Amino acid sequence: MNTLNHQNSRRDFLKLGGAAAAGALLANSAIPALGQGSNTGRRATSGKSPLTKLNNGIEMPVLGVGCFNLPTIQAADIIHFALTNGYRLVDTAANYGNEKEVGEGIARSGVPRSELFITTKLWIENFGYDEALRAFDVSLKKLGLDYLDLYLLHWPVPTDFDKTIAAYKALERLYAEKRIRAIGVSNFNPDHLQTLAERTEIVPVLNQIELHPFFAQQAAREANESRRIKTESWSPIGGGFINLPKDPTNIVRLLENRTIVELGQKYRKMPAQIVLRWHIQHGFIAIPKTQHYERLLANIDIFSFELSNEEVAAIDGLNRDLRAGPDPRSFDVPAFRAILERRRANG
Ligand SMILES: NC(=O)c1ccc[n+]([C@@H]2O[C@H](COP(=O)([O-])OP(=O)(O)OC[C@H]3O[C@@H](n4cnc5c(N)ncnc54)[C@H](OP(=O)(O)O)[C@@H]3O)[C@@H](O)[C@H]2O)c1
Repeated sequence: MNTLNHQNSRRDFLKLGGAAAAGALLANSAIPALGQGSNTGRRATSGKSPLTKLNNGIEMPVLGVGCFNLPTIQAADIIHFALTNGYRLVDTAANYGNEKEVGEGIARSGVPRSELFITTKLWIENFGYDEALRAFDVSLKKLGLDYLDLYLLHWPVPTDFDKTIAAYKALERLYAEKRIRAIGVSNFNPDHLQTLAERTEIVPVLNQIELHPFFAQQAAREANESRRIKTESWSPIGGGFINLPKDPTNIVRLLENRTIVELGQKYRKMPAQIVLRWHIQHGFIAIPKTQHYERLLANIDIFSFELSNEEVAAIDGLNRDLRAGPDPRSFDVPAFRAILERRRANG
């Protein structure tokens, strides 16, 4: 099925006129425009995304490509295509099972390593100090890299927070040894950040959390900001409702929301581009995933238009506190296995 999808999406793309379609989509994105109130950086880059400065002084793109549910059979081609079409930020994880293929795409792209910003994540089953050091080596080897730009703890494990702390201390060591340019966390609630601050030395550069217009996460955003931690949005266009549906008979579709669709019509943009623009104008880093070439081009073509303050506020007003993914207050290995079981049962 994955092979078929892959062939279909390539065929559809070629039907669209391949390079011509790519050119048309990219034509508008040559000059990045910075959004109001955004904290995007201003340095020229060979990539299509503006950069933002992290609390340790390094810069990263504000828009990248996500790799969750990116089938291994397609991952190398998709990452190669993304990098040769202006992406510089790649977000994967040991748990996604595609680090090796993502690494192949990176190698094949020929983009100089110094221009890339590669993130992967330490899975919770490898928490603990020594376990984390070993898992880091495995990830680096699979990716075919000799250093990482950003390494994240994938989730806090509240039922065994000592191990979470030990894993973070291993990241601090790898950072001190210059094997990682920045360290961070994912899915940390404000109280998790507080405990981390009390028991470790280095402030994470960012916290990657589920965040989209239906789940605005105001408290988490404010907690991050108060600690100079950037907020990075996962499932930025609502993909979690499709990937991890609580009720598969009632999948919520953010991209079909009337406000979003009408703004798309006004700006002649896809709904996904409107939502991604909302993230950028709030100063978030966004990592949409797609396995379709034309969508990859569209998702990074968001720097040539700007939503008004009223339009950003209208999208803010869509918040329903509707979480698609797991709740970080109760995530651990058994909770993860239960999710896998549910997904299997739902086909
Ligand atoms: N830290 C964490 O715990 C965590 C959890 C989940 C995700 N993440 C990261 O965040 C990334 C993004 O999250 P996500 O994959 O869950 O969701 P997402 O990026 O919000 O949405 C992905 C979904 O949207 C579709 N899509 C992509 N571009 C589109 C466009 N232009 N128009 C219409 N549909 C479009 C994709 O379909 P096609 O692929 O078929 O195009 C896919 O079904 C992940 O890949 C991963 O790197 C992190």
